[in-house]
Amino acid sequence: MIKTIILAAGEGTRMKSNKSKVLHKLLNKEILSYIVDASNLEDSQTIVIGGKNKAYIEENYKNVIVKEQKIGPNYPYGTGYAVSLALDLINDDDIVLVLNGDIPLIKKESIERFLTYHKKENNACTVLTTFLKDPKGYGRIVRDKNGFFYKIVEDKDASKEEINIKEINIGIYAFNGLDLKESIGLINDSNNSQHELYITDCIQILKNKDKKVNAYISEDYTEFYGINNKYELQRAEKILRRRVNKAYMEEGVIMETPEIITIEPGVKIGKDTIISGYVKILGKTEIGENCIIEGSTRIEDSKISDNVKIDNSIIEKSKVGKNTDIGPFSHLRPKADLDENVHIGNFVEVKNSFVGKKTKAGHLAYIGDSDLGEAINVGCGVIFVNYDGKFKHRSVVEDGAFIGSNSNIVAPVRIYKEGYIAAGSTITKDVDTGALSIERAEQKNILGYVEKKKKKDLEIQRSKDDK
Ligand code: UD1
Ligand code: CA
Repeated sequence: MIKTIILAAGEGTRMKSNKSKVLHKLLNKEILSYIVDASNLEDSQTIVIGGKNKAYIEENYKNVIVKEQKIGPNYPYGTGYAVSLALDLINDDDIVLVLNGDIPLIKKESIERFLTYHKKENNACTVLTTFLKDPKGYGRIVRDKNGFFYKIVEDKDASKEEINIKEINIGIYAFNGLDLKESIGLINDSNNSQHELYITDCIQILKNKDKKVNAYISEDYTEFYGINNKYELQRAEKILRRRVNKAYMEEGVIMETPEIITIEPGVKIGKDTIISGYVKILGKTEIGENCIIEGSTRIEDSKISDNVKIDNSIIEKSKVGKNTDIGPFSHLRPKADLDENVHIGNFVEVKNSFVGKKTKAGHLAYIGDSDLGEAINVGCGVIFVNYDGKFKHRSVVEDGAFIGSNSNIVAPVRIYKEGYIAAGSTITKDVDTGALSIERAEQKNILGYVEKKKKKDLEIQRSKDDK
């Protein structure tokens, strides 16, 4: 079977970060998860070599086996040492695919083609290579006079001639199980400037033993960016964004600004949906057909049905029914569940609430921990008061109710069908079906008040002047 070893324990010092390199994100998805996904082949098992990130990987990557590489001044270091930690899981007749953990743009098809070549050629080891205009930082592929693969030399260890070689080691290798086991015990850290155990030395050892070692050249170098610092991180993200957004457009999504739209791979978007602006669509999100999503909208882990319009709003872990419109500047917090034809206008926040068909909240409202029926009018500035300082409570508003502007609905309370709340009321008791509820002091008009006040002020001023 195929055993995939992903090397993810490295310190990644060039990232200058407190976070493990392979856990940095491209389009909101971790570098490591791209590689785990791309190398998830038929009849294969994936082993990740983790370092300080081991517990996190174990917790979040359930389909892989994690082996720990201890990191510190007293432990050996290097890609060769990292691979050796997985040897107890390797059988002699396995094909071992070794991948650096920092090459997220690799495609599954490319890995499959590479392994097919390795098997067909009956190699002891195959190295995946490509040509780069600027090969700085990469291991170079040294070939002999006849053009056959000879060895890999690291950038730091390369001679003056070797440094000019443009063919580079991507960090992807296929080994026959037995050959890997036999060679890895023979590498040592004395022949390189960093005193590390290099996986690349295995290849030369096999070569010296007259085993068949070959380089497989891939033309599409954009798949193989190794990420070592934050500049390379954004550069890789740019390439990936282009690739991902192109695929959505080919599936019928309209993108007016593809270079600034962020869609996390895995998101589903229906055809004829228009996306425009600095939109981010993340996590496990599904979006229907014919939607318009624009501005600086961010949608996470949500389900949006067809014909929905969202303008400059934030939507998290929520559901939106068809023909509903949201924004500008509204916020659906987790568990907002909007039915069809709902209108959520400017500056409205909805959280853990159901909002029924055709209900409208046009401006400046907070709907929290409540269940709203159909065709309700939520006036401007209405607040569902859900928190008493200790506990949260729910309110219910039934179909056809009218909630006047600037009202407070203090939970737990129930407004029955077509209940009518006068503007400015603070509702703490249930409202009966069809009843008008006014809760505010009666308006008094005091005639002549202003004239009287003016006179009084004048008297005060005079007595001050007399003093
Ligand atoms: C490595 C290759 C180089 C190749 C380049 C491609 C070696 C010796 N060199 O160099 O030829 O051109 O990748 O990007 O292999 N890691 C561990 N444990 C360790 C050291 C590293 O798990 O002890 C992991 C890292 O997390 C990383 C990967 O191995 O995912 C590669 O390590 P890195 O330090 O980036 O290797 P390079 O110096 O780039
Ligand atoms: Ca690297």
